[in-house]
Amino acid sequence: MSRYENTFFQGEEAEERRPSGWAAILRRVDTVVSTQEAAKELAEQGAPEGTAVMAEEQTGGRGRQGRRWHSPKGKGIWMSVVLRPSIPLQLTPQLTLLAGAAVCSAIRRETGVEAGIKWPNDLLVNGRKLCGILLESCVGPSGLQYTIAGIGISANLAEEDYPEELRKIGTSLLIESGRETEREELARAVLKELETLYGVYLEQGLDPIAALWSEQSVTLGRRVMLRTPEGPQEGTAVRLEEDGGLVVLRTDGETETLYAGEIALI
Ligand code: BTN
Repeated sequence: MSRYENTFFQGEEAEERRPSGWAAILRRVDTVVSTQEAAKELAEQGAPEGTAVMAEEQTGGRGRQGRRWHSPKGKGIWMSVVLRPSIPLQLTPQLTLLAGAAVCSAIRRETGVEAGIKWPNDLLVNGRKLCGILLESCVGPSGLQYTIAGIGISANLAEEDYPEELRKIGTSLLIESGRETEREELARAVLKELETLYGVYLEQGLDPIAALWSEQSVTLGRRVMLRTPEGPQEGTAVRLEEDGGLVVLRTDGETETLYAGEIALI
């Protein structure tokens, strides 16, 4: 039996399959270890792209680089979406930019909170993290099978909902706007924006997505710290390359183009 068969699912019947094949299904579940695993299981069972799982709580929410993601009950949008793009595996970092741009647009429009994107797809407000995005891909003998886009938006967390060590670095829509967010409404707006930008990407390529990402970025033009095999290096984030890489002009005069990893804003 599937581990998720006895969780409660809502709303699926009301949804439709678009002509594009995007499923626009939002499954609400109660407590899961991680929505990444729940969405992966659905993808393995053949769920169409656009299928999303949103949990009230994650007991083992995960972030990038093996970090934990703080996902308290009823406070956030802890959601994972199945994507099945017909693109080579090496282009998946472009989906990372796409997801960041889509979530940032939806948050700005729906809540008025002026989040900005830190490369590749963290959303920050005044230097504190509001949202994290994690993309995980499954590759088969014929290439990329599916990608799971995991989105964690700290919506209704108060300062005291954060453990001490995250209090200064994390923020929430509640902390920034003083208002509670209706989480399912925002989740649906995020999915709608993701569907739209994904359609644009498949038809027109990365250019319009990169333009939107750049407009919403708090990275371009900033001094940054990179980790390199030779140790930490300072530089300035200059622009996105046509293929989505981040061009950094290092203080030692070298230019580096980044496709994965993390940078710090300084
Ligand atoms: C990061 O910034 O490190 C990425 C955080 C991603 C968190 C989301 S919450 C929904 C989905 N399920 C997970 O376990 N992680 C992602």
